[in-house]
Amino acid sequence: MNGRWTRRDTVLAGALASIGVGPALAAPLYSFRDLAAEKGLIFGCATDPEHLEQDLPFAALVQSECAQVTAENVLKWLIVRPTPTGFDFTRADRLAGWLAARGMGLYGHCLVWHEALPSWLAERLSSASAEGLLQEHISTVVGHYRGRVRAWDVVIEAVENADGRADGLRRSPWLNAMGPDYIAESFHLAHAADPHAHLALADYGLEYDDIPWMLDKRQAIVRLIRALRSQGVPIHALNLQSHLLGDHPPAFGQGLRAFLQDVADLGLEIYIGELDLDDQNVSANAEGRDRAAADIFARYLDVVLEQPAVKMLSTWGLSDRYTAKTYIAPRPDGDMRPLPFDRDLRPKRASTAIQAALERAPKRPPLAPFRGG
Ligand code: G3I
Repeated sequence: MNGRWTRRDTVLAGALASIGVGPALAAPLYSFRDLAAEKGLIFGCATDPEHLEQDLPFAALVQSECAQVTAENVLKWLIVRPTPTGFDFTRADRLAGWLAARGMGLYGHCLVWHEALPSWLAERLSSASAEGLLQEHISTVVGHYRGRVRAWDVVIEAVENADGRADGLRRSPWLNAMGPDYIAESFHLAHAADPHAHLALADYGLEYDDIPWMLDKRQAIVRLIRALRSQGVPIHALNLQSHLLGDHPPAFGQGLRAFLQDVADLGLEIYIGELDLDDQNVSANAEGRDRAAADIFARYLDVVLEQPAVKMLSTWGLSDRYTAKTYIAPRPDGDMRPLPFDRDLRPKRASTAIQAALERAPKRPPLAPFRGG
């Protein structure tokens, strides 16, 4: 740290002052976005447009910390496809507009998933209709944002070894209707709709070196990427979601390094796209959980940021005020603390840990300016 007062301090101090929080910023802070940019990385977070429009202090924090925002929910089928015949981009366009007005990027999440599907789809999805549905959806959604989205999560959570297939693929509605080709097809469609967008496969459960099902999943993912690359499929990145575990030792070491290198050797960029921490089953008090979270983030980021193919770091939410854990891993006491800022938007130990990890990270070549579609 060199004592600079940065844009983050100005915006954050204003935001905190507006809600009556003054002394929280005891030490100067540096924006994640600037620290990341110095290392050739994009820093972002995921959220929904309503939080940015209605919660001005939160919005100021996002603006000061992030170069990019991932559409947490508003680009999912459930929101964009309320009926079989129409598309509703109202909320997603509001998010895109908010970001464009501030010179910030939009990360596209997600085109093909087995969750957050509208109920009408189950009745209509069949082997006869699947390809047409995918074609219409991907062409329309990616086409709508052509030139405005640097990267898309095209297919997410496609691997689930527990489903018992030899190739490790999840028996998702898409696979059941189309077979494994739905993955390649989705990437081709996205590429045709926006040839300059970077296209990612995203998944969770790839982070830990000592969890057997995660080790199997790494192998299935590498096999899948190798197969897609050998078929000339336009896949450009693997997005490691990075939902870390508060109740598991931070086993990030040679196995994770080797896995990242395998992915990099296949020519892919790597994104850390949904970083947060599950403290649902951690019995320590808030202070203890915050210390543990900071340690886990530091150990994880030190390993992943060492890998030059890692180009993006994005948290799933930014403040504990808005977190997916509310729906996915609630605590009985309601005090989920998965993110770098607390509910009052004050930086926690996790924030300091992320900053320090960014400072320690080796520089990589700066990302080429986004050319648009
Ligand atoms: O908005 C309604 C609210 O009005 C209602 O009171 C409440 C009652 O449950 O539900 C609210 O909607 C919830 C919505 O998030 C809020 O934005 C839904 O129930 C809830 O299912 C939905 O969860 C989202 C989840 O994906 C399912 O789509 C989370 O916000 C979102 O963070 C989560 O994100 C996923 C990624 O897409 C894929 N990877 C895992 C990640 C979760 O860790």
